[in-house]
Amino acid sequence: MLIKKSVAIPSSEITPKATYLNRRNFLAGAAVAGAAAVSGIAFRDLAEPRLIAAANAKIEGTQKSVFSTTEKQNSYKDVSNYNNFYEFSTDKYEPADLAKNFKTRPWAVTIDGEVKKKQVLDVDALIKMAAPEERVYRHRCVEGWSIVVPWVGFSLSELIKRCDPTPKAKYVEFTTLYDPKQMPGQRTGVLKWPYVEGLRMDEAMHPLALLCFGMYGEVLPNQDGAPLRVILPWKYGFKSAKSIVRIRFTTDQPLNTWQQSAPNEYGFYSNVNPNVDHPRWSQAKERRLGEFFKRPTLMFNGYDQVASLYSGMDLKKNF
Ligand code: MTE
Repeated sequence: MLIKKSVAIPSSEITPKATYLNRRNFLAGAAVAGAAAVSGIAFRDLAEPRLIAAANAKIEGTQKSVFSTTEKQNSYKDVSNYNNFYEFSTDKYEPADLAKNFKTRPWAVTIDGEVKKKQVLDVDALIKMAAPEERVYRHRCVEGWSIVVPWVGFSLSELIKRCDPTPKAKYVEFTTLYDPKQMPGQRTGVLKWPYVEGLRMDEAMHPLALLCFGMYGEVLPNQDGAPLRVILPWKYGFKSAKSIVRIRFTTDQPLNTWQQSAPNEYGFYSNVNPNVDHPRWSQAKERRLGEFFKRPTLMFNGYDQVASLYSGMDLKKNF
């Protein structure tokens, strides 16, 4: 993301530095139960404390998805070393190292708002709700670069159905962990924390919307949003919130962090749209990470299946 404020944001360099992941183990524990108790929300489906998958452990039983592109995938090294994760840094190369000790277990996800089944879920219980799929998606950042990544997860709709939203639920809001001790970027005022994103209910229910906990057949590395994020391939990358701790169903449209930060530059919808320029640059083309020549950007990032969600809407106004 590029912002106007006085912070120095690095230019969109394309060649990733050869920094490497620090591989480490995660332990699950009972503290999630404590978090649930503190929250005062009915606690269901809490996983037993147990050893969970180590970072970079394989995710077994992954099905291939019909939604996958056959385009050339970016390398794991590229995707895990060139990141936008402002909670750690505004520099794309720094989150890989700064997030290496980020604790992603135990991890509680609060489901609340306009749902019949308000609950706090242990992330390991949550990711077992449905069969994991590998979805190879194009992912287009608003800054003008794109990547192709084999994400692992299942449709967000699988979770939403199990939460039983009330008729008043018109939107879904995602909130990232707020923990300035662990996340140095949150000790700065570069954005208003915690990071918040949102979707209209029909967008969230669209089968392409992915609740994601892995990539390249392994659990997500911290810098890519472990332990749980969303991936919305037809939208600019900033809609795909990382390290989610809360999923709230609302009647009113959530105010997403980037819109709050610069409303003239970042809207609520943020659908990839080559015909609507960012106020400070064109969105007509993009550079695939690792390639030299730019390629044309496609409407909805090429995911035409979502077009009907926006029929009748002026996408220049609803950018
Ligand atoms: N989520 C949080 N919590 N914080 C962020 O800074 N950056 C967004 C999005 N989700 C961001 C976030 C942006 S701008 C992009 S392009 C993608 O994450 C990048 O995801 P990746 O690093 O896995 O490619």
